[in-house]
Amino acid sequence: VMEDQLIIEEIKRLKEERNAIILSHFYTRREVQEVADFVGDSLSLCRAAVNSKADVIVFAGVHFMAESASILSPEKLVLLPVPDAGCPMADMVTVKALREEKEKHPDAAVVCYVNSSAAVKAESNICCTSANAVNVVNSIKNREIIFVPDKNLGAFVSLHTNKKIHLWPGFCHVHDNISEDDIHNLQNLHPDAEFLAHPECRPEVLRLADHILSTTGIVKLVEKSGSREFIIGTEKELFEKLKRKHPNKKFYPPSEKARCYNMKKITLESILNSLENMEYEVNVPEHIRVKAKKALDRMIEIDG
Ligand code: 13P
Ligand code: SF4
Repeated sequence: VMEDQLIIEEIKRLKEERNAIILSHFYTRREVQEVADFVGDSLSLCRAAVNSKADVIVFAGVHFMAESASILSPEKLVLLPVPDAGCPMADMVTVKALREEKEKHPDAAVVCYVNSSAAVKAESNICCTSANAVNVVNSIKNREIIFVPDKNLGAFVSLHTNKKIHLWPGFCHVHDNISEDDIHNLQNLHPDAEFLAHPECRPEVLRLADHILSTTGIVKLVEKSGSREFIIGTEKELFEKLKRKHPNKKFYPPSEKARCYNMKKITLESILNSLENMEYEVNVPEHIRVKAKKALDRMIEIDG
């Protein structure tokens, strides 16, 4: 095996040769984030994909994220280094099941969390991310909303709107595994710690939170907060990153189980292979892409 340093140099050389950029989510491995040109939450990654002048985007994340980049920037070649890096929650809603739900609630608008397939986005009125879900729902005229696929994010939104929300039974196993007991124990041990939670956590966990935020929201809050101790209610990589970045502050992870194994599939070797062989291309059929783009564009528009 090649030394990491050699792999990194080769990645950098190929990036220039191909006019490529590497976009990464906060849950990928440390060394992957370190080689990326931009690291962010789902919303900022969408924006980065749109604004980039690169010809090639190597997406260090899961399939729906690369798909969103390809929907928004069809002129770019979007590569996912590991083709089966998926999001189990995104697979919890299908077009067929969503159409049936729409028939049951003909007056409802469909708000679709970006953690979903392009085909499901194409069936939706507007997309949202964890950073803007409440604003998106409140921007819609309809009184009734079908919210797919995350029941926890949907339940969180329903606390901040007067609209009637039809929840979908999807969830993220990483966040749904964080229990009320995990947090109670940490809060008892560290009574001065601020608890920052991702809205994919269960409602009973979110009730204990001081702030409910997207991953970028968590990073920013830690930077500006006067607190010195934090419980980080999301995937463990973010806790590790914050610990390195703020050696004078104390961080506590929610649980050892909070690990997204799909994000960890992306390695330096797979990124190198991706750039060498220009694989694996993520493409969306044009008739789906155009509709899905409308739902994503509406989100980006209301979000400014
Ligand atoms: P954000 O980074 O948008 O908060 O989303 C978290 C997540 O689970 C992405 O899959
Ligand atoms: Fe999907 Fe959860 Fe992993 Fe995010 S953390 S990609 S929602 S499984």
